[in-house]
Amino acid sequence: MSSLQDLIPVVNKLQDIITTTQLADIDLPILAVVGSQSCGKSSVLENIVGKDFLPRGTGIVTRRPLVLQLINISDEENDSNTTDFYSTSAPVSDEDGSHHHRGYDRQHPQIPNGHFSYSTDDVGSVNLEDHIRNMSNGKTTRSSREWGEFLHVPNKRFYDFHDIRREIEHETMRIAGQNKGISRLPINLKIYSPNVLNLTLVDLPGLTKIPIGDQPTDIEKQTRNLILEYISNPNCIILAVSPANVDLVNSESLKLARQVDPMGKRTVGILTKLDLMDQGTNALDILKGNVYPLKLGFIGIVNRSQQDISENKPLDESLNAEQRFFLNHPAYKAMASKCGTKYLSVTLNKILMAHIRERLPDIKAKLNTLRGQTEQELASYGDEFSEGEGEARGAKVLTLMTKFAQAFISSIEGTASSAA
Ligand code: GDP
Ligand code: NA
Ligand code: MG
Repeated sequence: MSSLQDLIPVVNKLQDIITTTQLADIDLPILAVVGSQSCGKSSVLENIVGKDFLPRGTGIVTRRPLVLQLINISDEENDSNTTDFYSTSAPVSDEDGSHHHRGYDRQHPQIPNGHFSYSTDDVGSVNLEDHIRNMSNGKTTRSSREWGEFLHVPNKRFYDFHDIRREIEHETMRIAGQNKGISRLPINLKIYSPNVLNLTLVDLPGLTKIPIGDQPTDIEKQTRNLILEYISNPNCIILAVSPANVDLVNSESLKLARQVDPMGKRTVGILTKLDLMDQGTNALDILKGNVYPLKLGFIGIVNRSQQDISENKPLDESLNAEQRFFLNHPAYKAMASKCGTKYLSVTLNKILMAHIRERLPDIKAKLNTLRGQTEQELASYGDEFSEGEGEARGAKVLTLMTKFAQAFISSIEGTASSAA
């Protein structure tokens, strides 16, 4: 498996099982980008999502945390492949008794219908190419079935992603003011799409040293605390971004990440702006892990330049250009398959899969208990079918379902461990 999109069916099916059987949530990790101002955080996040929608640029642009919840909705293609068993578009009950549609209004979104098509491709350059081709076909960018919703603009769907960017800018001004101030109050945005994995991503203001505009004198401390609030959560994967044209010794993101993740177990190092390094220098030592130890390693990235942004260079073009950069670069071409946005996606995919795998024994044990209970219940109905027919059928379905779920989980365990 290669791109994050490949995880969609697995997570969908699992979350379906979990929702239907009312087991614990998978609780996928939150991904947060951390780094100094203008190091490319928003750009990296956009590349991961595969969408043009975040305000980016030189200077302080991200001035409030953006909590971005991606919510997978099934498209027509998914619908036709979904087994009736899990297929339900009806609102489901929450623990508190409130009704909501799947994937709606949850800290960790529940997922609607998915189908099981788990891929065992380990290194799948093919899949990303498909992804990029789809994007250039407009498949992922122009679907009318993708939209955004802001918590502060109830009942409005934003179908145009440029409008989403404008709304983020507007809402940033409204709370954080016109003059470079920052606010700890997050903007909450949900993106509904058949092409996203259910994930929560957080874009954060960058670390700065010297106050400007309306920024308070202790801006550095305030930003630091704001970032720490998000990344100290043990369920947060820290995408620690450092620009390659600044000495890594000065990397603010790595310093901060080390504070909350001293063993470097949940920190992915991201080195941006490789295209802007001085002629004759390269970041090979860092990328190979010889400079700074991180279990999850460093990944080199080339985002869109300010000129690309100003000229509205499409995302798929810039992803292709990024691949070409690594393939043609004398220093990086030998490790080109381990560089770039694509490889970042592969890495995040592996991290999430490992996380899911960790949760499986627990889910399996709960399923076992549930199945035992339903079988007992079923037996207690005996022959009095006329009276308890509805319940008996319900219990039968549940027994079948838990059996099915266990088989599914075993199959993931098998594939996941062989892919590891
Ligand atoms: P943030 O402040 O960390 O969120 O950074 P942004 O994503 O807003 O990017 C800041 C500026 O740096 C923008 O003008 C980007 O075009 C530029 N930039 C970011 N990453 C790269 C990169 O890898 N290469 C080049 N050439 N420019 C980049
Ligand atoms: Na910036
Ligand atoms: Mg930003």
